[in-house]
Amino acid sequence: MIEPVSTSAVAAKPPVHIAIIMDGNGRWAKARGLPRVAGHQRGAEAARAAVRACRELGVRYLTLYAFSSENWKRPVAEVEDLMSLLRYYLRREVGELEAQGVRLRFIGSRERLAPDIVTEIEAAESRTRHNEGLVVVVALNYGSHEEIVHAARSLARDAAHGTVRPDDIDETMFAARLSTDGIPNPDLLIRTSGEQRLSNFLLWQAAYAELVFVNANWPDFTRESMESAIAEFHRRDRRYGASRG
Ligand code: FPP
Repeated sequence: MIEPVSTSAVAAKPPVHIAIIMDGNGRWAKARGLPRVAGHQRGAEAARAAVRACRELGVRYLTLYAFSSENWKRPVAEVEDLMSLLRYYLRREVGELEAQGVRLRFIGSRERLAPDIVTEIEAAESRTRHNEGLVVVVALNYGSHEEIVHAARSLARDAAHGTVRPDDIDETMFAARLSTDGIPNPDLLIRTSGEQRLSNFLLWQAAYAELVFVNANWPDFTRESMESAIAEFHRRDRRYGASRG
C-alpha cells in the first residue's frame, strides 16, 4: 500500500534515476469502451506529465519504456498507431524540451525503426546534447537480452582482435558496452497496471533498483502517483547486499 506524502518531503531528496514501465494503456481504454489507440494517446500525455513532474521534483534521469523489442508482435495497426504517436510527439515536444534544458537519449535498436523516425531521434539527441537539466531516456525497440548480447559480442570481437584482454573484462567495462553507458543505474523502477514483472527492461541496470508496483493503469498515473512512489522508495532500506546497520 502506498501512502501519500507532502511535496516538500519528496523534493528534499529525490531518487537520481527513475525508470518506468508504462503498462495498462490497453486496459484503460477497454474499461472505457474505447479503442486501444485512445489508451496510448492518454498514455503519451501521462508520459509528458511524468517528465514535467520529474523536472519539478529534481530527478536527474527518467527512463520511459515506450516500445519493447517484443512489441512488434502486436497487430500491425497498433504498432503503426504507436509509431505515429511517437512521430507526433517528437515533432511537437522536442523544441519545448530543448528550451526547458531537457536532454533526450534513446536506447534500443534502431534497426527496425522507420528511417524518418531514426532521423527525428538523432536530431532530438543532437539538439539537446548540451542540455544539463533532466535527462529523459526513451527506451524504444529496447530489450535487455538483446542489449546484453550486443555488449558481449562487442567485447568478444575486441578480444578476438587482441584489443581487450579477457581477464580485464569487469563489470565497469561490461556496463560501458550497454546502451546506458554514462547513465547511472535506476534507483527506483515503477511499473503500473498491477503487473509485477520486469519484462526484459534494464535487467543489468536494475540490479539494486527499488521496485514499486502501482495498481493504476498508466494513463491514470499522475504527479501524485509519482510522489507516492518516491515516498515508498524513501521508506525502503537500501543496503546493496550489506547487512542491516
Ligand atoms: C503498455 O500498455 C504501453 C505500451 C505498449 C508502451 C507505452 C506507450 C505509451 C505510453 C504511449 C506513447 C508511446 C510512444 C511510442 C510515443 P499496453 O498496451 O500493454 O496495455 P495493456 O497491457 O492494458 O494492454
